[in-house]
Amino acid sequence: MKIGFIGLGRMGAAMAANLVKAGHEVAVFNRTADKGRALRELGAHQAGSVAAACHGEVIITMLADDAAVTEVALTKEGIVESLAAGAIHVSMSTISVALAKQLAAAHARAGQRFVAAPVFGRPDAAAAAKLFIVVGGEAAAVETCAPLFGALGQRTVVISAEPAAANVAKLSGNFLLAAAIEALGEAIALVGKAGIDRRSYVDLLTSTIFPAPAYKTYGDLIAESRFEPAAFAAPLGFKDIRLALAAAESLRVPMPLGSLLHDRFLRLLAQGGERLDWAAIGGLATQDAGDPQTVAPVAATVHTLTREPT
Ligand SMILES: NC(=O)c1ccc[n+]([C@@H]2O[C@H](COP(=O)([O-])OP(=O)(O)OC[C@H]3O[C@@H](n4cnc5c(N)ncnc54)[C@H](OP(=O)(O)O)[C@@H]3O)[C@@H](O)[C@H]2O)c1
Repeated sequence: MKIGFIGLGRMGAAMAANLVKAGHEVAVFNRTADKGRALRELGAHQAGSVAAACHGEVIITMLADDAAVTEVALTKEGIVESLAAGAIHVSMSTISVALAKQLAAAHARAGQRFVAAPVFGRPDAAAAAKLFIVVGGEAAAVETCAPLFGALGQRTVVISAEPAAANVAKLSGNFLLAAAIEALGEAIALVGKAGIDRRSYVDLLTSTIFPAPAYKTYGDLIAESRFEPAAFAAPLGFKDIRLALAAAESLRVPMPLGSLLHDRFLRLLAQGGERLDWAAIGGLATQDAGDPQTVAPVAATVHTLTREPT
């Protein structure tokens, strides 16, 4: 397919590369033009402007936040002004429910189509084409985009014909992830201060009662206090909690844990955590515990007892 791709950050660069490798004709654009160099070498065409990236059947955006997507899509010579009638804007960034609704309306007015397709998975999953893609959009438009989703992810779940529903699902999922990070952080702080090896404790949990990728990924990062370089930066994680709370407020859904997470992110960012991975909120409990030992220096002391053959 002939497509455009806007936003070559940690996620977007890897995703655009997979689309090129899958044989699609891809025009890329990024505010900081330098980031397009590797993709050009791979065979992508570097567009000189947002409008120039909008000449295909589909334009994909993978941008930081609402402000970035608004700037690229809704301003003069942005996507809505530049895309042909009938063409599709696929928004894969994690944006607000309100903006997804605004985009759907603006594209409909311009005779274009809009699909929301936010993703689960970090940059390593994006590079390996292992993303989980949550899709909201009208069936024919989603069908047109299916080969693109196939090149980007391991599974695509169509949740609704209404685009903004995908953003609700994505934001609620990130709320759950942040809650898991905070809970892991508190549990790991407790065992760590009790002198138990933190990594072995995470192995114990993830090989028994919590065998989920989220606990494994974030448990390891927290046990090892490995928060740099950021794969998903803390300010973006904070953005997602704020967007989840905004969606909850507009629907009158109290989310007390969401409010707590909001303050955890505020604390992290107030104390210089801008450059850290969002998993760093899971390190705050260890700090609060006054435990200087973040990684146990000794070899694993927790081990599995196997029954001796009789
Ligand atoms: N990282 C993850 O693990 C992950 C996982 C799932 C979903 N997401 C979501 O995916 C999206 C991208 O995340 P990321 O980690 O790739 O972010 P990132 O590395 O910070 O990249 C952000 C991208 O947005 C562009 N941008 C920011 N503000 C802009 C503006 N005002 N106008 C035009 N472009 C602007 C940046 O351009 P410049 O290069 O010029 O700065 C860059 O291309 C976010 O919505 C995030 O929540 C991330």
